[in-house]
Amino acid sequence: MKFKEIKNNIFYCGLNDCDRTIFDELIPLEHGTSYNSYLVKGSEKTALIDTMYPPKTEEYLKNLDENNITKVDYIIANHGEQDHSGSIPALLEKYPDAIVVTNSKCKENIKEMLLVPDEKIKVINDKEEISLGDKTLRFIIAPGVHWPDTMFTYIVEDNLICTCDFLGAHYTFDEIFADDSKELEHSAKRYYAEIMMPFRTMCKKYTKLVRDMNPEMILPSHGPIYKNPKFILDLYEDWSADEGKNLVLMPYVSMYGSVEEMIDYLAEKLEAKGIKTEKFDIVDGDLGDLAMGLVDATTIVLGSSMVLAGPHPMAFNIAYLANVLKPKAKVATFVGSYGWGGNLFGKLGELLSGLKLDVIEPLLVKGKPKEVDFKRLDDIAETIYEKHKALNLI
Ligand code: FEO
Repeated sequence: MKFKEIKNNIFYCGLNDCDRTIFDELIPLEHGTSYNSYLVKGSEKTALIDTMYPPKTEEYLKNLDENNITKVDYIIANHGEQDHSGSIPALLEKYPDAIVVTNSKCKENIKEMLLVPDEKIKVINDKEEISLGDKTLRFIIAPGVHWPDTMFTYIVEDNLICTCDFLGAHYTFDEIFADDSKELEHSAKRYYAEIMMPFRTMCKKYTKLVRDMNPEMILPSHGPIYKNPKFILDLYEDWSADEGKNLVLMPYVSMYGSVEEMIDYLAEKLEAKGIKTEKFDIVDGDLGDLAMGLVDATTIVLGSSMVLAGPHPMAFNIAYLANVLKPKAKVATFVGSYGWGGNLFGKLGELLSGLKLDVIEPLLVKGKPKEVDFKRLDDIAETIYEKHKALNLI
């Protein structure tokens, strides 16, 4: 495959992985993904910025051969996770004079994960530069988007910034430049929800930093290159904002239909009050969709049937996931139904305790909801309405 030139002797040499259907063995991929690698040819030295996912190494090296890349001086590791660093050992065999350039945290990771020897790694500090002759690479240490070892590489003379996983998307493409489509926006949001949302504060910080740099293009490690940086920066600014939307996310699991009946009723009442709702069937739903709902939701209503005197395990899973994804939600409540007894909400509440939510008194019914329970659901809808109003969402 012939490498595509991005600009002025800077080439895309990454690969699509159209067959990959799940990432981190957790969240389904809708459009596969790409592992981006960039070749920068200076007048004196050549650098590769990020490398390749190990199963794709052979194809990656073959492409380097086909493009007559006989010498690489620097292998820039922006991050130690192996979807980007995995081919470093093979590259060091192929180009024995090459040196890996990275920060101290990433150095420890690639030494441990890939057994790269100490003497093959050059450690750089924040804002340090290396020269390729007529091109300069400047490194920006950016811990927290999303690993502690993450950094960006700025190609100074060309005003291009390689942002590693930050601002990326699990998306495959033939044209290397983003089309700024709704489909790409959807994939980038799903990616943000799963990977970046737990680091929302850092996302805000680095969105501003990249915007202030005013790069001509953004070159992420997954997904197409943004020729129009405003497209992705505006989206990140919205997603990472402290304020949620006028939205209630309602994940639920219902064994005999009672919880679903309560969720449906509550959703109808909320919609009638002008509040958007998103119901999510935990058993049949796609976790990526749930994560996307968490990007915007101000309120979470978690519904569960009781199983063996506690929450349904699938509800447990959702509460745990919501807690670690650290969404911006501010309000929560629970609805549930039981057959013979137990503690339904205590453990779910504990699991969500990291979010510091304002919890509305939950509703637990034996069997099917009755008139008195529907009245309680009316009260819950009214309380959510009041809280959204107080937050200026209505
Ligand atoms: Fe795409 Fe954190 O690796």
